[in-house]
Amino acid sequence: MQTSNQKVIWVTGASSGLGRSIALQLANRGALVIASARNRQALDELAAQNANIRALACDITDAAECAALGAQIAAISPHIDQAILNAGNCEYLDFPDPDWAAVRRVMEVNFFGTVNCVELVLPLLRAARRPHLVVIASQATAAPFPRAEAYGASKAALQYFCACLRLDLACEKIDVSVVNPGFVDTPLTRKNDFEMPFLMDVEQAASRVIGKLASRPRRYSFPMRLSLLLGLSKLAPGLWQKAMTASKKSSTTPPGT
Ligand SMILES: NC(=O)c1ccc[n+]([C@@H]2O[C@H](COP(=O)([O-])OP(=O)(O)OC[C@H]3O[C@@H](n4cnc5c(N)ncnc54)[C@H](OP(=O)(O)O)[C@@H]3O)[C@@H](O)[C@H]2O)c1
Repeated sequence: MQTSNQKVIWVTGASSGLGRSIALQLANRGALVIASARNRQALDELAAQNANIRALACDITDAAECAALGAQIAAISPHIDQAILNAGNCEYLDFPDPDWAAVRRVMEVNFFGTVNCVELVLPLLRAARRPHLVVIASQATAAPFPRAEAYGASKAALQYFCACLRLDLACEKIDVSVVNPGFVDTPLTRKNDFEMPFLMDVEQAASRVIGKLASRPRRYSFPMRLSLLLGLSKLAPGLWQKAMTASKKSSTTPPGT
């Protein structure tokens, strides 16, 4: 049962990794958390850990499922105080003969899937007193990485989308934040076999995100050490290209999250 002052928060991609940790930590702090993803079993296991969690399965790339999810959420709560749109995936392009369809698949989840979520949650945010929309992008967009064409482009698209959305929603007093994590130890990055500088523990990363979101920043990129390192790509693009090309030669799967 929802208590009157309880914050209602929707977290997508809550079946694993960062979204799962964020959902659990928020529930432990007393929020009513609506946790969504495709994997129903993983969601049910999450919900079993805290009575404040409601698990709702949904593939965010499916517009009809998203519409149904909107109705299911509205049956739980007439408003959403905060939506944390975190669901995403990563596929790399392997040259010289990449699977070009991967670009579409990644855009479908990371960009269009998130747009579906924005569409379904806006009416619920509008019904909240101080609504906050949060989108998880990535620090990958701060520099070009080999093989990251699809992933980086999908996250850059999200950042631009959100920058415009922030302007369009300002008159309705809906805050929009974009979070750009560096490398976090999750199932997504465990598939990487290249060096991941400043790799963070998922619980710590989740707690940093939650802590920072309290001030509703337009953009939060962390850790700072990685932001500084990636800044080199703009200060010295030639050097950056040399370093990335060298890493591509020395590894079959070089940096790119
Ligand atoms: N880990 C990092 O280093 C890192 C760095 C920067 C940004 N990020 C971003 O952080 C977010 C979370 O990533 P993570 O590292 O925690 O990865 P993860 O452990 O693989 O989690 C991804 C989540 O997205 C959900 N998801 C994927 N496709 C979906 C779909 N079509 N419909 C609904 N849910 C879907 C997955 O659930 P189901 O499979 O159950 O659907 C899962 O819960 C992603 O947006 C990622 O790009 C991660």
